[in-house]
Amino acid sequence: MRCSIGNSKKHKNIKFKLIKKFNPLLRNQFYCSAKLSKIQRIFGNARKSMISDIFPFNQFCLAYIFNKMPAKIIDGKKIAEKIINDLKSKIKNMKEKPGLALVLVGNNPASEVYVNFKEKDSKEAGVYCERYNLDENISEMDLLNLVNNLNQNPKIHGVLVQLPLPKHIDENLVTNSILPHKDVDGFTAVSLGHLFSDKTILAPATARAVIHLIESTGAKIEGKNAVVVGRSNIVGKPVAMMLLEKNATVTICHSRTKNLEENTKKADILVVAVGKPNLITKDMVKEGAVVIDVGINRIGGKLVGDVDFNNVKEVAGFITPVPGGVGPMTRAMLMENTLKAVELAKRIS
Ligand code: GUN
Repeated sequence: MRCSIGNSKKHKNIKFKLIKKFNPLLRNQFYCSAKLSKIQRIFGNARKSMISDIFPFNQFCLAYIFNKMPAKIIDGKKIAEKIINDLKSKIKNMKEKPGLALVLVGNNPASEVYVNFKEKDSKEAGVYCERYNLDENISEMDLLNLVNNLNQNPKIHGVLVQLPLPKHIDENLVTNSILPHKDVDGFTAVSLGHLFSDKTILAPATARAVIHLIESTGAKIEGKNAVVVGRSNIVGKPVAMMLLEKNATVTICHSRTKNLEENTKKADILVVAVGKPNLITKDMVKEGAVVIDVGINRIGGKLVGDVDFNNVKEVAGFITPVPGGVGPMTRAMLMENTLKAVELAKRIS
C-alpha cells in the first residue's frame, strides 16, 4: 500500500491503527458512510491528503467523510438516454428491425402518457412500433383475438398490453395470453417463474431498471442487506428475486410489516415501490444507503415518489429522483427487452 504520511512514531501508530481497523471496510462505500462518525472521531484534525494516501478508496467516499455531503443523485434520465442511443446504433445495423406492439384500452390519462412515451422511445431507438388504441368497451374476446394475432405476426417481436385494463376484462388472462418470448413486460406467469431459476429470459422492465440503477453507482450488491418495500408481482417480488440472485440478503416489507423503520434502517440498499408519497422519511434510512424510489404519485399536479427526497438525500449515499430516476430507465429496459425478443424469436423459429 502506498503511504506518504510522516514516519514519526505517532504517525506510524495512527497508520497502523487505521489500516487494521478500517481498511477492509473503507473499500466499500456502504460501510464507509456507515462508519462515518467513528472515522471522524479517530481522525480528528487529520488532513484529507493523509487519509487518501492511506486508503486508496474512491473520491466520493472521501468527500463524504470530510464534507458529509448529501447523497449523489442517480440520474436515471441520463443513463437511460445512453442506453437508448446504444440500442439505436445496434438496431441501425440490424436487417430485421425489432417490432413492438403497444395496446392501450380506454382513456386512462396516466396510461396514455406511458404509452406515448413508449411509442416515442421506439421511434427514437429505431424500433418498428404498432399502436392499438382500443375502445373502453372492447370485449375480452376481441382483446384476446388481437393479442393472438400479434403473437402470430412475425414483424412483431414484443407485445405490451398497458395495465390497468377495464374492470370487465380479466387482466391476468390477457397478460398470460402473450407468448412468453414476446412478453417484453415480463409479466406473464412463465416470465415471472423464470425469475426463480437462473434462466431469466425477459425480466420485468422496472425490476431490471432498479438493478441497473443500483449497479450504476458502483455499489456491490453481493452480501448487502437489501430491503424491498412493496410486494407487487410486477415490481416488489421480481426486484427481490433479482437482488437475491445477485447474492444480497433480501427482506421484503409490506403493508402488514410491523415496525417498517426497524427494517429499512438496516438496508444498505433500499427499494421502495408502494405508491405512498413520503412513506420513507430521513429517520428510516441508514447513512450511506442506496435508495431507489419506484413510486410515482401525483400531488397537486406534481410528481413525487414514495421517499421524502429532500430530507432523505441528506443521509443516503445515492438516491433516485422522481421524476427522472426509475421511470426513464424502465422505458430503456423495455427497449432492451424488445431487442432481446428478436433474439428469442430467432432461437424459436
Ligand atoms: N402499467 C403501469 N406500468 C406498466 C408497465 O410497465 N407495463 C404495462 N403493461 N402496464 C403498466
